Amino acid sequence: MRGVTLRRYPDESFPKNIDFFDLKDFPIPTNLKENDLLIKVCYVSIDPVMRVWFSGAKTYIDTVHQGQIIPAFGCGVVAESKSKRFTKGDLVLGALDCADYCVRSANAIFKLPAVKSKHDPNLPLFLSVYGVTGITALKGLHQIPKENLPTKESKKTLVVSSAAGSTGSFALQIGKHWGYRTVGIVSSRDKKDFVLSLGADACVCYNDTLDSNGIVDTDKLTKLIKQAAPEGVDAMYDNSGEEVLDAILPAMNKGAFIVLCGATATYYTWKNRGGLKNLAHFITKQIKAEGILYFGQKNAIIESFKEMNELVTGKHIQHKEEFINGLENVTIGLQKVFMGKNLGRVIVKLDNEVPLPKF
Ligand SMILES: NC(=O)c1ccc[n+]([C@@H]2O[C@H](COP(=O)([O-])OP(=O)(O)OC[C@H]3O[C@@H](n4cnc5c(N)ncnc54)[C@H](OP(=O)(O)O)[C@@H]3O)[C@@H](O)[C@H]2O)c1
Repeated sequence: MRGVTLRRYPDESFPKNIDFFDLKDFPIPTNLKENDLLIKVCYVSIDPVMRVWFSGAKTYIDTVHQGQIIPAFGCGVVAESKSKRFTKGDLVLGALDCADYCVRSANAIFKLPAVKSKHDPNLPLFLSVYGVTGITALKGLHQIPKENLPTKESKKTLVVSSAAGSTGSFALQIGKHWGYRTVGIVSSRDKKDFVLSLGADACVCYNDTLDSNGIVDTDKLTKLIKQAAPEGVDAMYDNSGEEVLDAILPAMNKGAFIVLCGATATYYTWKNRGGLKNLAHFITKQIKAEGILYFGQKNAIIESFKEMNELVTGKHIQHKEEFINGLENVTIGLQKVFMGKNLGRVIVKLDNEVPLPKF
């Protein structure tokens, strides 16, 4: 079998330079321990959090060491089971590896509802709309308190950062369906067009505010957000952190709520940007913020699947996936996401027996 290994921790030349990985041959693992599963990996998704994993930081998964096969959220088929809860052929989801096969403890793996075969084209959607990005968007929005939700009598504005990305595009569309006036924040004009095509009422490009060092000018961005949200912002779904989060604070209404989902801008640890200069707005406006974490919430997928399925089949939300073919192209996927070139979810198909899905 083959696996993509981390040759060394990426430096500031990443993502333009992606020469930090190797594709190597390994024997298929044998000698499974009690409760272990050998999983044939069918698809992996490219998640911004992988940049944190590549720095050697300890997160909710084990630290990734140099020389090790890189992990990724993925789905696959149980090839061998030492667990009473799983049998050969079960379709599963979890933090797998960028490899043809991986071994995981059954405790960390989720058996997929609603798909029966790896040939089902819906299987990779458990890495997207029915998985880590879609379910997180839905669960995160459900954390918003009643007083910040729109009603017939009271219009409310929701701002979403990285709105052309996978999580952001779901959060924005669900928010729109719930009756919010929605505003996206994205890097570029083509992403703005995409976000408007999803039904956003307005969209702001932070690239329009970059200073001579290529850093977002928060004051300029605040101005653009205020123009796009003239009634003020009642809720924010933040995927970006740093300057974008900082810029939203002066545009927020009293008692506004922030769902802290991601902080992609901070995943590049060598950039010391000085934190939030508008922090005092939390105090003066009594803004509340709460984190959302998908990992380890196995029940969330089951609980949210029905609601998400209704949103998809009712055509209230669109899902966009960009498929890349083959383990040897995982690094192309990494470059796409980290250079912000993706619209929606980037998924790499690893299993040669499965055709590339089309949606
Ligand atoms: N808490 C959880 O459980 C959970 C679950 C899923 C995702 N997340 C988080 O949600 C965020 C979005 O994840 P996703 O998988 O849906 O990815 P995504 O939004 O589809 O793709 C990442 C986007 O981040 C932006 N980006 C790239 N480099 C950046 C940088 N240096 N600074 C700021 N923005 C940058 C780009 O959008 P622009 O070009 O528009 O900037 C890029 O398209 C991530 O922070 C992720 O870690 C959290």
